[in-house]
Amino acid sequence: MRWSRPRRGWSLLLAGTTPDGTRILLRPMRVEDQHEYTSVRSLNRQWLGPWDATSPVPSTAPRTFEDLVEVYQGDALAGRMVPLVIETDGRLVGQINASNIVLGSFRSCTVGYWVAQSVAGRGIVPTALALVSDHLIGELGLHRIEINIRPENAASLAVVRKLGFRDEGVRARMLHIDGDWRDHRSFALTTEDLAGATVMDRLTHGSQQSRERHTVEGPTD
Ligand SMILES: CC(C)(COP(=O)(O)OP(=O)(O)OC[C@H]1O[C@@H](n2cnc3c(N)ncnc32)[C@H](O)[C@@H]1OP(=O)(O)O)[C@@H](O)C(=O)NCCC(=O)NCCS
Repeated sequence: MRWSRPRRGWSLLLAGTTPDGTRILLRPMRVEDQHEYTSVRSLNRQWLGPWDATSPVPSTAPRTFEDLVEVYQGDALAGRMVPLVIETDGRLVGQINASNIVLGSFRSCTVGYWVAQSVAGRGIVPTALALVSDHLIGELGLHRIEINIRPENAASLAVVRKLGFRDEGVRARMLHIDGDWRDHRSFALTTEDLAGATVMDRLTHGSQQSRERHTVEGPTD
């Protein structure tokens, strides 16, 4: 086999509970996810199509699933990315990736996400985004998290509204989505916005639901 598992890989586990009590787990993508991942992506092609990133030039995407896992592992180990799949009830139901992580005087990143249509509307992505945001700020020391959304994507606009991301306005033809350059509305959160609270606090504020957060990070053998 051309691909070989890195001897010391990148690993991160984040777990939590949605406001309505659904337990979720965020973990790195594994080569073993190929069947489940390709199946959920294929079943949700129409659901995801209008919001999926596409390439303006041919042949830039990883060629195989193993290549994709390797790219995620490499970018995560290099500190450029936090790439995670979303699990609930032991099933892979989506993805959340923090990309373009830059330190120095920027300390910022962009986050993208999706879930299968079958689990939409259960607060899974707001919970995943809260867990990831708190990790990026609390553990990696980032100062700002950015999310870019097509203005017509009402469901994704609801996600950032629930977590109180600030609307920074429209950026013309910003990203190549669904085969063309699309306008996006940028939303951001900085540590000052949180004033000492967590993003999970924002999601659960006023709710009696218990929340749980476990973080296990470090190289795996
Ligand atoms: C956007 C998306 C990630 C939201 O994730 P989610 O876990 O469903 O988030 P929520 O449960 O908070 O629901 C968000 C909104 O979806 C809509 N929604 C509710 N139930 C739904 C259902 N059964 N089916 C579809 N949408 C539903 C509602 O507008 C809801 O907002 P509300 O809670 O204020 O009513 C998800 O809809 C998705 O993956 N869409 C396709 C890919 C995509 O748009 N990615 C983001 C690109 S920026």
